[in-house]
Amino acid sequence: MKMRLDRWLATLSLGSRSEVKEWIRGGKAAVNGRIIWDPALSFETEEDSLSLNGKDIDGRMMRHVMMYKPGGLLTAARDAKQPTVMDLLPPVYRSIGCMPVGRLDKDTTGLLLLTCDGELNHRLLSPGRHVTKRYRALVKGEMGEKEIEAFRSGLDLGDFTAQPAELKLLGPSLAETVITEGKFHQVKRMFAAVGHEVIALHRSAFGQLELDPGMQEGQWRELSDEEVGLLRRSVGL
Ligand code: URA
Repeated sequence: MKMRLDRWLATLSLGSRSEVKEWIRGGKAAVNGRIIWDPALSFETEEDSLSLNGKDIDGRMMRHVMMYKPGGLLTAARDAKQPTVMDLLPPVYRSIGCMPVGRLDKDTTGLLLLTCDGELNHRLLSPGRHVTKRYRALVKGEMGEKEIEAFRSGLDLGDFTAQPAELKLLGPSLAETVITEGKFHQVKRMFAAVGHEVIALHRSAFGQLELDPGMQEGQWRELSDEEVGLLRRSVGL
């Protein structure tokens, strides 16, 4: 992404636009090892290397994150009253426009993607792309063939009929389901439609990406280039 040096530094939350202009004019900013005196010069944010006061700065504006969402946090870019998943990330992710891809309920745990790429975000959520999401649910009561068949035939949820979904029983009250839609409270509503309240819901996969088994609740990491490639290809980018 091509960007003026003053805007680049300010977008990285290093200082206000006027502060960073002053620093640049004072010879404090360098790109690719050369001091840049002109705040209006443009650079490639993903390729050029940036430093300020002799310290290397990670200048990438395009970042993608896998988070193990813990319970108790809202999935939102910001909220006036409650903590959000963005609070787990350094502030720079918010200032470069990293946003959650869809929503998990406050009490849902598991794989949440966040990206600065608006087009990728949009495509991953687009109903026409049928990106799969896998959930594990602990429910009240015991399930059996009746529930498997009901999920398979497409549940009537009142305002819409869910696409047929696979339900795999992992225990009498524990099941895994894979859906391609993402309506509000969809999985909880699907289980409620077959008479089972969800006690705990966890997302273990999004598209071809599995939640990293090495991650603990509340941890996050950037996606590897391979993982980003998988996601992008899966939605035709
Ligand atoms: N479906 C739900 O009901 N809740 C979630 O958090 C995700 C999918």
